[in-house]
Amino acid sequence: MDVRAIERQRVELQANCDRQRSQADRNKLGQFATPFELAREIAATTISLVGGKSIRFLDPAFGTGAFFSALLDVAGDRIESAMAFEVDPHYGTPALCLWNSTGLKLRVEDFTRASVDQSHANLVICNPPYVRHHHLSVAKKAALRRTSHALGVKLNGLAGLYCYFMIFAHQWLEADAVCAWLVPSEFMDVNYGEAIKHYLLNTVTLVRIHRFDPNETQFSDALVSSAVVWFKNQKPDPTALVSMTFGGTVTGPRISRDITLTEMHSEAKWTRLPEILHHARDRAPGVRLGDLFAIKRGIATGNNQFFILTEGQVTELGLTQAFLKPILPSPRYLKQDEIEGDKDGAPTLDRRLFLIDCALSESEVEKIDPGLGRYLKSGRHTVAQGYLCKSRSPWYAQERRPPAPFLCTYMGRTNESGKNAFRFILNRSKATAANVYLLLYPKPAIRAALEDDRVLRRVFQLLKSIPVMDMSTEGRVYGGGLHKLEPGELSNVRADHVGNLLLGENSRPRGEQMTFSLVG
Ligand SMILES: C[S@@+](CC[C@H](N)C(=O)[O-])C[C@H]1O[C@@H](n2cnc3c(N)ncnc32)[C@H](O)[C@@H]1O
Repeated sequence: MDVRAIERQRVELQANCDRQRSQADRNKLGQFATPFELAREIAATTISLVGGKSIRFLDPAFGTGAFFSALLDVAGDRIESAMAFEVDPHYGTPALCLWNSTGLKLRVEDFTRASVDQSHANLVICNPPYVRHHHLSVAKKAALRRTSHALGVKLNGLAGLYCYFMIFAHQWLEADAVCAWLVPSEFMDVNYGEAIKHYLLNTVTLVRIHRFDPNETQFSDALVSSAVVWFKNQKPDPTALVSMTFGGTVTGPRISRDITLTEMHSEAKWTRLPEILHHARDRAPGVRLGDLFAIKRGIATGNNQFFILTEGQVTELGLTQAFLKPILPSPRYLKQDEIEGDKDGAPTLDRRLFLIDCALSESEVEKIDPGLGRYLKSGRHTVAQGYLCKSRSPWYAQERRPPAPFLCTYMGRTNESGKNAFRFILNRSKATAANVYLLLYPKPAIRAALEDDRVLRRVFQLLKSIPVMDMSTEGRVYGGGLHKLEPGELSNVRADHVGNLLLGENSRPRGEQMTFSLVG
């Protein structure tokens, strides 16, 4: 069999199949193929963990078979059996023809619902579909969760489809089977990943995790930050070390550390490993932003286009100011970092926006503000049916987010020098903000101090001087160097200087010298 010739046909087939599908359709089933060179590198690395045994292979999300092709290339003579699943006949049927002569048992069906038969595998290599939870129907998600619960793994409702693949595949594993999963690295940091991490630390022997540098995205057509997770189906050995590697390639990582299971258990965000050891992150107790501020995500309006209006739209629709609140434009339209307010508190910006915020019933609104009544009516059968609006009463009521003196952008990209992933904003207006921002509300102990304008400004400067590294290691990072910070993560960021200024020297961690002045 000329494996390389079949691979050339497969690449062509993959390109044809992709071309006939829209990006949106491919997103729904997570149809992004692994580049062959990467598949080959992963297959070769994985084979080195199998020893000299014959291979009984499984790929539960086959596509056109990048990993099978790679395996044939690196260890074709050792394959005793191979099985695979592909839910979509658009890829599955031509793949069946392509691999017909190899003895591969490809089932064109949904792996998550497949009956588990006698065939087991001692090698799994898979790039499962990266379908986010909100693309899974309610019924599908409920069925997935039922099966995972039956398998003893409580995946929460936010888990993406790839998590279920990892857990469901366990039923197909022989003792000592070796698995390699190419997955988004998100599970390493977020709550829904806890169940996966628990599985990796308590059910199997985690061998290695390689996290690609998000600035070196692996896939040209799917912007995801990926990791490869290798493990063996063996009870974990508490004394074993896990190899954590980062950046570069699977075979030539930029950073590499061996980490104990105890360290893995105690580190909530695995993407900090191994950089955390690299940068010797200071874990001394000190003041955190959450000690000073109650941090909240800005408003999820349910439909920004409908609920956030420009000044021109307000006039055109004939709305009164009764149910309008000034709201900041998104960071990309905000040139300055300091926002002033006019006499009514609206920000003095070129782009002035207003949020519709009203808790009265539609009939009451019609009486008080007929223009708004008409406008809301126009969204009753469309906007009101959206996911968030449906869960609110009335459907146009908004979360309470009074103006905050400080804001921080919720996400951002690092530039080449690693700077500017996040921006702090000083808000002297009465504008609230949407969920592209985090709002920092001063806690009671510091409110009085912040009434002094000089203190307010100095705090703003200190916030802006928080090292980028301190912020980004608390947050999470996605493909293409996109960083995000949830409120709890920003709360965890060290802010000793701000603490010293506002709470006094006692808040200073021992042994640290800090100087600052109110001037400047
Ligand atoms: C990320 S792609 C990987 C394809 C291929 N293994 C590769 O690495 O190039 C995931 C594949 O899983 C398929 N898939 C999605 N949901 C599935 C399911 N429930 N059961 C089986 N396959 C599924 C998709 O159609 C897609 O071909």
